Amino acid sequence: MSRLAIFGGKPEIDTPFVPYNRIGEAEREAVLGTLESGLLSGYIGAPGPEFEGGPEVQELESLWAGMFNTAHAVAVNSATSGLFAALGACGISPGDEVIVPPYSMSATAVAPYVYGGIPVFVDIEADTFCLNIECVRATITDRTKAIIAVNLFGHPARLGELRALADSHGIYLVEDNAQAPLATENGILCGTIGHIGVFSLNRHKHIQTGEGGVCTTDDADLAFRLKLIRNHGENLIEHYSAQSAQDLVGFNYRLSELSAAIGRVQLNRAKEIIAEREAFALRLSVGVLGIPGLIPPHVREGCRHTFYAWPMRYDRNVVGVPRGVFIQAMAAEGVPLNGGYVPPLYRLPIFAARESRGGATECPVTERMHSSEEVGFGICAFELSDRLVDHIAAAFHKVYENRAELERLSTDSHAQLT
Ligand SMILES: Cc1ncc(COP(=O)(O)O)c(C=O)c1O
Repeated sequence: MSRLAIFGGKPEIDTPFVPYNRIGEAEREAVLGTLESGLLSGYIGAPGPEFEGGPEVQELESLWAGMFNTAHAVAVNSATSGLFAALGACGISPGDEVIVPPYSMSATAVAPYVYGGIPVFVDIEADTFCLNIECVRATITDRTKAIIAVNLFGHPARLGELRALADSHGIYLVEDNAQAPLATENGILCGTIGHIGVFSLNRHKHIQTGEGGVCTTDDADLAFRLKLIRNHGENLIEHYSAQSAQDLVGFNYRLSELSAAIGRVQLNRAKEIIAEREAFALRLSVGVLGIPGLIPPHVREGCRHTFYAWPMRYDRNVVGVPRGVFIQAMAAEGVPLNGGYVPPLYRLPIFAARESRGGATECPVTERMHSSEEVGFGICAFELSDRLVDHIAAAFHKVYENRAELERLSTDSHAQLT
């Protein structure tokens, strides 16, 4: 057995991972073309054609709607703006409850506050890390106005069931699809099953423009409201005689022409970029298959997972060493892993300072995933090759096979690494 790197052996991978970068010549040309046009943003927040943004924004929206098969795509300057706009479009008002998962990026759960709404945290499933539908069902009250389902790590939440549940209560389903472009549930694209889907184009995402986002919807009224919120809609209400949208506050959520130009090119390459990511993730899953206590990412039947991250489960009782010690040994082998995605969001001070519902008691699975079971590899963060993926898998095997040695690391000195 080869000696673990954490005890002075040769690491399985001895060169640093190269940061992921899919920006190439076509993106460069698109940016230069936009610079030469002199039009860095095509928006004016007043009635007229420029309310819709410039040619690059409109081209991106049209391509997006085509690829994702939706009637409307509304480009925004981040998924955070997209989530805020989505809840505004759904008419969230003070006191309305919005169901959210606590295992997500904070923007998912703070979005209701923009409209005086109340985030209600509901637990997740242990295998997919997405909302548990039975917990959602049990939490809906007369005050619930929307559910935000996050397709976390690239895997669909139970979207079809959630949409049916939302419809049966006359409430909205918003998909936070920041991490799952081209993922599918029963052949239907994520981001198109809810009333509104929200995508991110930030620098870590599959399709990226530095910062940016897109909202999708099949509902013309929601699309109109999203556009009013995106671009100072208060100036347009009289022009459009849109009585029902009179109270909407317009923001500046406008994407620049430069970002839209990059997005258009990236979108053309999305299928190839995502298929490559998926192939690496599945290769890694096969590579670790059979290691007791390490459960590779689950893909629910009928779903396509597009692997923003590669999240596995760690069974400490089977492996025999704390998760943190295992991760430390993997780091020494040259493989950076995360133990638990983010602390459950209800622990953030803002949710105590403002009104929120649900916490550790209501969300035991989230607590477990964060504190001891979920192990993530940020597959979106690095340039990979089949060879490198095989070395990552070999590092998992090596650390597992030498796990008895790891007991030499005192659990006392690694108490924080459980
Ligand atoms: C699940 C989720 N929702 C929302 C966001 C916010 O995206 P953005 O950075 O585009 O505002 C992110 C970003 O990491 C995310 O992962």
